[in-house]
Amino acid sequence: MAIAAHETASTELPMDTGVDRDHRRELATELGKALASCYVLYHKTHAYHWNITGPLFYSVHKLTDEQYEDIAKAIDDIAERIRSIGFAAPTGLGNYLQESIIEDAPGIKSAGDMIKELAEDNQAVARQLRPIIHKAEEVEDVYTADLLTARIGAHEEASWMLNALVVDKLESAAAA
Ligand SMILES: [Fe+2]
Repeated sequence: MAIAAHETASTELPMDTGVDRDHRRELATELGKALASCYVLYHKTHAYHWNITGPLFYSVHKLTDEQYEDIAKAIDDIAERIRSIGFAAPTGLGNYLQESIIEDAPGIKSAGDMIKELAEDNQAVARQLRPIIHKAEEVEDVYTADLLTARIGAHEEASWMLNALVVDKLESAAAA
C-alpha cells in the first residue's frame, strides 16, 4: 500500500554537510524566530500599503509594494534554509505572532506613524539577524550567514527609504 503523504512528514531530515547537528538545530530555532518577525513585518507592510492616505499616498504605496514583495521572497528563502539545514519550518500564525519581535499592529494610523513604525521595524529585524549571522559564521554555516547578511542590507535599505520620506518630521522631532 502506498504511504500517505502525511505519513512521510518528518521534523528532521538526515544530513551531513559539515555543520554539527546541534549547531544546525540552534540555527534553525533562531531562523524560525527571524522568520516569525519577517512574517509579521510582511503583513504590516502590506496592511499599511493598503491603508495609507494623504499626500505621501502614492510614494508609500509604491515603496511598500516593493518592500512586501521583497520580504515575501525572504520569508520563503529563510523557511527553505531551515529545511535545508535539516529541520521543519515553523507553522501556525499564532506561533509566528508569539515568536515575532515585531508587534502586530491592527487598526489604522496616520501616514507619518505608519512610515516611522515600518522604518523602525526594519531596523529591529536587522538587529535580530546580526547575532544569528555571528552564530552561523562561528559554526561555518556560510550559506546562512550570507543569506542573512544580504537581508540586513535589504532591511537597512528599506528603513532608509521610509525615513527619507518623512525626514522633515524626524528632524523637527529630534530638535524638539
Ligand atoms: Fe498592492
